[in-house]
Amino acid sequence: MALHFAKRITEYRLAKDMFTRGKSIILSPEAQAMKQFTQHGETTVFEHCVSVAKFSLLIAYFLERTLKIEVDKDSLVRGALLHDYFLYDWHVKDKSRRFHGFTHASVAAANANRDFELNDIERDIIAKHMFPLTPFPPMHREGFIVSLADKWCALAETFKIDVSSYIIYRINFRIALTNGDYSIDYGETAIEA
Ligand SMILES: [Fe+2]
Ligand SMILES: [Fe+2]
Repeated sequence: MALHFAKRITEYRLAKDMFTRGKSIILSPEAQAMKQFTQHGETTVFEHCVSVAKFSLLIAYFLERTLKIEVDKDSLVRGALLHDYFLYDWHVKDKSRRFHGFTHASVAAANANRDFELNDIERDIIAKHMFPLTPFPPMHREGFIVSLADKWCALAETFKIDVSSYIIYRINFRIALTNGDYSIDYGETAIEA
């Protein structure tokens, strides 16, 4: 009987996989704009999205390898990378953003629809990632995966638990390599070494 040994999952391979699947989003100036805004603690929205994409991929690998449940990983990564594409600083007091927790998913979905070509799964991931704060649950398993990964990352970032600094470094490194620019832009709120 032939034994199948799946490749070991490393941060390096996760970064490579994420970059391949989300390249057009990651390299876009629109997505890079998320580096201007802080999400939780000292993490920028861009870093948070990379972290959520990482844990979404990990959950997908687990489902595929152990339970043989197929996941659309291209849509998963693209949706995760844009799930918080709301493009404003939610820490700044503003009446129209008082209910940020409830409303930013639809703002992000509208922005992402405007700036990127998305499929139904990607749109659903972004619009429903705050479930159960959204009235309807995600329509696809990819949406539940991102929603779960998002909650874990938010918790880790709020309590300053470093779960993604290496993959964020790898993604920024790949952006710099692709752009031929070796001065890596870590965003304004990058954590100091
Ligand atoms: Fe969110
Ligand atoms: Fe999020």
